[in-house]
Amino acid sequence: MLHEAQFFNEDCVEGCRRHIPDSTVDLIVTDPPYGIQGHQLHKHYNRKEEFVLDGYVEVPAEEYPEFTRLWISEAERILRPGGSIYIVSGYTHLVDILVALRATSLREVNHLVWKYNFGVYTSRKYISSHYHILYYVKPGRPITFNTGCRYGPKEQHENGGSLNYLDREDVWVINREYKPGQTKNKNALPSQLLIKIIQYSSNEGDLVCDLFLGSFSTAKVAIGLNRRAVGFEKSSTAFSHQVAEMKTVQRGGLLDQLRAPALESHPNQGKPWSDDERRQVYRRYVGLLKVCGTKGKAIEVLSRETGRGRFSLGKAIAVAKNGDSGATGQLDFVEIVS
Ligand SMILES: C[S@@+](CC[C@H](N)C(=O)[O-])C[C@H]1O[C@@H](n2cnc3c(N)ncnc32)[C@H](O)[C@@H]1O
Repeated sequence: MLHEAQFFNEDCVEGCRRHIPDSTVDLIVTDPPYGIQGHQLHKHYNRKEEFVLDGYVEVPAEEYPEFTRLWISEAERILRPGGSIYIVSGYTHLVDILVALRATSLREVNHLVWKYNFGVYTSRKYISSHYHILYYVKPGRPITFNTGCRYGPKEQHENGGSLNYLDREDVWVINREYKPGQTKNKNALPSQLLIKIIQYSSNEGDLVCDLFLGSFSTAKVAIGLNRRAVGFEKSSTAFSHQVAEMKTVQRGGLLDQLRAPALESHPNQGKPWSDDERRQVYRRYVGLLKVCGTKGKAIEVLSRETGRGRFSLGKAIAVAKNGDSGATGQLDFVEIVS
């Protein structure tokens, strides 16, 4: 079995063949080189190059299809049945990645769009502001997908709408991290993006692999979430800088920062309402609105105080307010919820 954290300063295809047995990896999250002269990205990006690590290994465009075919076939081999792979890609070589994936047994689950503030300005065409994330799985065993790991099924956005649903939509808006004055890789993925992928598609103790480590951001988040990590980076400059940084990453250190999803059940769920109780809850709701500012927050407090669910509270308030069954004139948040 591979150790808790193992990193190799090697080409990922050769490295996988040498070090990673078949069907041993639970999750691969990776961001291959772009094949667009990535080592000259400073010409496109508006930022100070003095803090950007030298040593990004690029792949010539004409070699990209074969390069992609080789590493994706290794990825397929090392994934366990039921394991997942997320590949981050720009548009230029997306076709090569799709063609390589289709030559494997891997099954497409989602094509995610990651929208962010790109930092490139164009005046005579639309401005690029998204990346693609291809989410595939290896068939053969149940897939790890932790549907309720971040938001409980009944949690509501303060403007209405299910938080669980919103979090699982296939367009993700996550900005890149701005790290002024810190040494970084050319294209470090934001930790919020990695946290999200790793939470949904792995469990503590699982093995997470990144074939193109760059600034080791996948590995740092994996270790921070108490997963095991393995990966490859061809550049010795990037590798030696980041391996030193990895030693400062605390195992499980990110777990405290995770938001706990709200429990599904409420102690008074299903208990019948009296008219008196409805009136009291309505008065309390009106008072809380002034203090909390939003309906969502007021209902959150009421839910804790009464041990009742949000939907039930919304209905009771509507009944007390309208003096009827509540079927008409319900509060906004109830309409959006249902
Ligand atoms: C887009 S970057 C990865 C960025 C990384 N996800 C991060 O958050 O920092 C691609 C990385 O792959 C490395 N690389 C290029 N060819 C490689 C190969 N054949 N094997 C391993 N790493 C390679 C590059 O040096 C570069 O650091």
